[in-house]
Amino acid sequence: MSAENSFYITTPIFYPSGNLHIGNTYTTVACDVISRYKRLQGFDTHFLTGTDEHGQKIEQKAEESGKTPQEYVDQMADYIQNLWSYLHISNDQFIRTTDDYHKKIVAKIFDKLYEQGDIYLGEYAGWYSVSDEEYFTENQLEEVYKDDQGKVIGGKAPSGHEVEWVKEESYFFKMSKYSDRLLQYYEDNPGFIQPESRKKEMINNFIKPGLEDLAVTRTTFDWGIPVNADPKHVVYVWIDALSNYITALGYDPDLGGFDQQPDQFKKYWPADIHMVGKEIVRFHTIYWPIMLMALDLPLPKRIYGHGWLLMKDGKMSKSKGNVVYPEFLVDEYGLDPLRYYFVREVPFGSDGVFTPEDFINRINYDLANDLGNLVNRTVSMINKYFDGKVPAYVGPVTDYDEPLAKLAEETIQDYKKKMDDLQFNRAVSSVWNLISRTNKYIDQTEPWLLAKDESKQKELASVMTHLVLSLRVVANLLQPILIESSGKILDQLGLSKLGEQDWKDPHFDVDLAGVQVASKGQPIFPRLDLDQEVAKIKKAMEEGKGKSKAGEEDKDQWEPEKIPLSLDRDEIDFDQFMKVEIRAAEIIDVEPVAKSDKLLKFRLDAGDEGGNRQIVSGLREFYPDYKELVGKKVAIVANLKARKMVGEISQGMILSAEDRQGSLTVAELPSQIENGADLS
Ligand code: MSP
Repeated sequence: MSAENSFYITTPIFYPSGNLHIGNTYTTVACDVISRYKRLQGFDTHFLTGTDEHGQKIEQKAEESGKTPQEYVDQMADYIQNLWSYLHISNDQFIRTTDDYHKKIVAKIFDKLYEQGDIYLGEYAGWYSVSDEEYFTENQLEEVYKDDQGKVIGGKAPSGHEVEWVKEESYFFKMSKYSDRLLQYYEDNPGFIQPESRKKEMINNFIKPGLEDLAVTRTTFDWGIPVNADPKHVVYVWIDALSNYITALGYDPDLGGFDQQPDQFKKYWPADIHMVGKEIVRFHTIYWPIMLMALDLPLPKRIYGHGWLLMKDGKMSKSKGNVVYPEFLVDEYGLDPLRYYFVREVPFGSDGVFTPEDFINRINYDLANDLGNLVNRTVSMINKYFDGKVPAYVGPVTDYDEPLAKLAEETIQDYKKKMDDLQFNRAVSSVWNLISRTNKYIDQTEPWLLAKDESKQKELASVMTHLVLSLRVVANLLQPILIESSGKILDQLGLSKLGEQDWKDPHFDVDLAGVQVASKGQPIFPRLDLDQEVAKIKKAMEEGKGKSKAGEEDKDQWEPEKIPLSLDRDEIDFDQFMKVEIRAAEIIDVEPVAKSDKLLKFRLDAGDEGGNRQIVSGLREFYPDYKELVGKKVAIVANLKARKMVGEISQGMILSAEDRQGSLTVAELPSQIENGADLS
């Protein structure tokens, strides 16, 4: 079994059928973040990505562009590899399913499965979606077209793509033979499919109703791997594609069982994570494990089905003029803002919506304001008060030192836990909570006043040290995400070399006495003009601006999932619930809204926005002595879209309980809960 200190992570291999937009890029960036995180922790990491180059779809695309399939995929594979280097993706290997070694092994795998009786010859008659490269029964179709006699003559797959009728001789894989073993495996390995909701979907929609045998060859086109013993058949593109995860490591069925395989295979297999988009979870959690069982190989440890990055009007498509290409955003705004946006904005596992406004706001508020300013202020104060040299750490001095140090230590643990759970957005919010608290620490300690008072030099030194130490933790934790800027921050603090050494076991209280910070803080993230930049992105979307023009069309998109309704209430699924950010916040001030007798205007510290979040709430009639609310710890919905009420902006909602008479009482939290803490 894989070596203890090894970590093998894979992206799906991409169809090279068009330019990749930010949605497609998302999976690969997510895997890159995990790979970098694991490498920093000292794991011997193998990160695999590649291209899925066979099948009817690619054959058709090549024909449309007047090229041979090989010419077409060569050009597209080049483009995709260039894109990944442009985005600094740190993959260790890039596999193409047209690589000779892969083709040879897939044909051998097929032979083995045939020889041992798992594959048999038959005839397939049914619906096929070329765009999805997927078979469907009539019941599985989203929409069917009928003629005058009521006969079904066509239809649409759940993806919205047209299906065609296919009737051909085909080899079949006896999937049904393995369904009990598969269910048992799910049960014995609860973390195998994540998020949990996707597991239920697989069991209830596909396995329990009875697994159908899968057609695993096609005969009506040529672009695929021929079956050795019957070359008019080419191997079904999904069998070919899924095998990439083991052919890449040198697996060869002729060598024998697991123990006889090459070292590279034994070191990394089974994979730690196969990261896949939600629409291909079925292939990875049903067909792939069954293939592996038939080959007598261990199953991957975790299959993670992430959500989709969508646009406000649903899927991205050229005809809608809403496609955004990663090259454009990176050219205009840099790599880190895009990586940060992906990680922060899409709650992992559920869908996220890209808007140019959110993208620019994230750069302005989180990166430029919260983080960039903090670095700048710190560097310039150390220059001003201590000639650019970090003072020695002498433990807590001011009242605010210890809580900051404590929060930094907790943030390290919290971040690790969340990264290990693949909850990137939460890991990053936890770091941003520390950033906000550090900004607040400056307001609380008021170093500019300490500097004026000769007797407060020890306090001033301690404040400077705490700022650098906190930023050191922040920059280190952000290394897998902000791959360029975290280094720049450490550079400005004079810590670049120290940072790397400390990564395996980061902690707060190191002695940095005498470390020389940069003579002048350089702005790392420039502030942008919202309206101007939003207009620019929208224009690029309309013009379909992507830098690489290798592909002719953008890739197909998936429609958002429909929300199931039960009889008497709207149900939400777990993913939807996880999108709601409920946070602890302290009421700093409250006053009535002038033009209303119902509304109160609250100023809250929710661990972000510099402790300055405003929420307007209809609580006035229930709290005639509204000032009694000051200092209370409450729960707020923190990611509710901001809106204006009687001219006042409201950024969230305070949770309160309604009794039978309709009276509201604010739901109070225990005071020791930190501002900004996530409630879930
Ligand atoms: N070739 C198959 C995978 C074979 S793996 C053995 C395939 N390729 S794909 O190019 O269509 O998709 C590659 C990945 O991109 C999938 O995981 C898919 O979910 C993901 N995405 C495509 N559009 C996306 C978004 N809009 N948002 C997030 N991920 C998206 O499927």
